[in-house]
Amino acid sequence: MAARARDNAYAPYSRYTVGAALLTRSGRVYTGCNVENAVYPLVTCAERTAVVKAVSEGEREFEAIAVVTSNGGTPCGSCRQVLAEFGQDIRVLVATPDGLVAEKRVADLLPEAFGAEDLG
Ligand code: THU
Repeated sequence: MAARARDNAYAPYSRYTVGAALLTRSGRVYTGCNVENAVYPLVTCAERTAVVKAVSEGEREFEAIAVVTSNGGTPCGSCRQVLAEFGQDIRVLVATPDGLVAEKRVADLLPEAFGAEDLG
């Protein structure tokens, strides 16, 4: 599903297309792709597209996210932080169209993430 979502990526500037598929504990899957903008910093990454879609539909508990790129790129720091908000144990499957490259947990990708507890 992540690979299919990647087909919808809007990446005319970087030409680096990313697809994501986020599995909820309830068994649903929310997909996402990167959406770029002529004002470059306004890009939304594929992972955050998927998280925002899921949360806006009432989902907050996630099992895993699959991310597909051409070369097995891993989620950026911002996406790691957004995933960490919903759980250090979420599995992150990094893949290319040919298959799985790596499987990690959010805690591996962003140790000591800033969290609600840091707000006191
Ligand atoms: N990108 C993602 O969608 N997810 C990431 O975690 C890394 C980067 C996108 C943003 C931009 O459209 C392109 O990849 C190049 O940075």
